[in-house]
Amino acid sequence: MRTPITAAELRHLFIEFFKSHGHAEIKSAPLVPENDPTCLFTTAGMHPLVPYLLGAKHPSGKRLTDVQKCLRTGDIDEVGDPFHLTFFEMLGNWSLGDYFKEEAIAMSFAFLTEKLGFRKEEIKVTCFAGDENAPKDEEAASIWRKHGIPEQNIYFLGKKDNWWGPAGQSGPCGPDTEMFVPLDRPDCGSDCGPACGCGKWVEIWNDVFMQYNKTLDGQYIPLEHPNVDTGMGVERVTAFMQGVKSAYQTELFRGIFACIKELSGREDADYDCRSARIVAEHMRAATFLIGDGVKPSNVDQGYVLRRLIRRAIREARKIGITQSFTNSIAAVVISEYSSVYPELSQQETVIHEEFIREEEQFGKTLENGTREFNKLIDRIPEFVAKKVISGKHAFNLYETYGFPLELTVEMAKERGFEVDETGFHEAYEKHQALSRAGAEQKFKGGLADQSDATAALHTATHLLHKALRKVLGEHVAQSGSNITAERLRFDFSHPDKMTPEQLTEVERIVNEQIQKDLPITCEEVSLEEARKRGAIGLFGEKYGEVVKLYTMGDFSMEICGGPHATHTGALKSFKIVKEESSSRGVRRIKAVLG
Ligand code: SER
Repeated sequence: MRTPITAAELRHLFIEFFKSHGHAEIKSAPLVPENDPTCLFTTAGMHPLVPYLLGAKHPSGKRLTDVQKCLRTGDIDEVGDPFHLTFFEMLGNWSLGDYFKEEAIAMSFAFLTEKLGFRKEEIKVTCFAGDENAPKDEEAASIWRKHGIPEQNIYFLGKKDNWWGPAGQSGPCGPDTEMFVPLDRPDCGSDCGPACGCGKWVEIWNDVFMQYNKTLDGQYIPLEHPNVDTGMGVERVTAFMQGVKSAYQTELFRGIFACIKELSGREDADYDCRSARIVAEHMRAATFLIGDGVKPSNVDQGYVLRRLIRRAIREARKIGITQSFTNSIAAVVISEYSSVYPELSQQETVIHEEFIREEEQFGKTLENGTREFNKLIDRIPEFVAKKVISGKHAFNLYETYGFPLELTVEMAKERGFEVDETGFHEAYEKHQALSRAGAEQKFKGGLADQSDATAALHTATHLLHKALRKVLGEHVAQSGSNITAERLRFDFSHPDKMTPEQLTEVERIVNEQIQKDLPITCEEVSLEEARKRGAIGLFGEKYGEVVKLYTMGDFSMEICGGPHATHTGALKSFKIVKEESSSRGVRRIKAVLG
């Protein structure tokens, strides 16, 4: 019988185990990637470590361990069921060109059996089956055999299951081996295992063997020093160890549900209530996001945050919470998590202020918007007959009343209506094009929320990226970017210090493109189409197959989330203020516009 452990105990066991095996503990990076503007959130423990997995030297050494805050938005609409989360914590250990499969698997095996108490007979593992890019991972399988995992418990699966990365479009990746343990329930049949899909076998750990760097043109280049990247989800493993079905039933959410129950005055507003789960999950994620400096807005991270808070408010109303409540829950999150993530208590005041502001603003939005929404549904016979809200009307609710599309869709669904979402996007695009053409209207969700200075600096990074490739060669690839209102900072792969002549030439090329006042256009195309057209750029988070492609005249074509200036002339002039080393094989340029 395994002893149930808490999340705090799990974090402690894991970190201490890897420390005792020579790993340095590092701090969780923020939820907003520091050097990757193409990626909204940190989605895995390895994400902040990409430069090091590609060969840069890490100041803490070659063996690292941490617990990393992560946020994934891919399943945001599924939150409400007992399993999906946006925010979660990931434990991990890394070898940066140090140990590889032999030691990584030995440590995973030791941790599972000695620290978590699994018997080796109840562990099943999967290994990579091999394909045209990489061979079958017999090596990993034979190491598992050596540790006594029975042959019939070792499975070989394809790329879909046993390959990880790259986190974006290019970068470190490789075969992985995943570890599964059984829920206490009967087998589904003779071949019940990791691949059967019945849910009995729970993946609790993933060891990725990063042997390749996938290039933008789809090649898998072996890495000189292969790395190990592992990930173990704190919420999932905690629930498993406690023998409960979902993370919502663990102590990680207990205090939050107690608060929700008190606020709503309802005993049933607990982990098995869908609305309460949404409030709990979204408020936890939102508190962490504000703690990391995100503010509610209509773009990028701010938009996701706004969506989380607003959905939490709507769901709270359904369980009888009509008073202002966000700060009561935020206070619970702050007090329960600050010992692991001290930034929460450090940012307490900001967190409270932002929640109050957003709650007030949304209160007004809801009141006016709901009135308008009901008018739409009740009074116009056309809608009643077709049970479809037109894209134009949905857009009007968005534009005039600040109703996010998802909210309109959800409210419509509750009344048995559908929303013409394609029509909404058409109306959105049309409006955006009008704004870009110079109309004075402010557009919520477009450039209006970003300062023009930031957008111009962002545009300058595209011009700089292309100019560097022209002057230094095609090996130049962006490895990081950071923009403040005053300057841009651009990290890129290049082995040597740039000469004064090269710097002057890069500056000249960028200024030439500024003087040409090139038009900047944005198209949404499939990733495949973007690649075919020769676009450059990373695309960190998997938004699906459609990406935004920014074209600047015939000079630059790059996949990017935006926003950008509408024409290069807006940049006025470009000046490099510093060129320096960022890490091994990576140079850094700081530049300003004038
Ligand atoms: N990067 C891998 C994952 O996210 C292992 O950490 O599963």
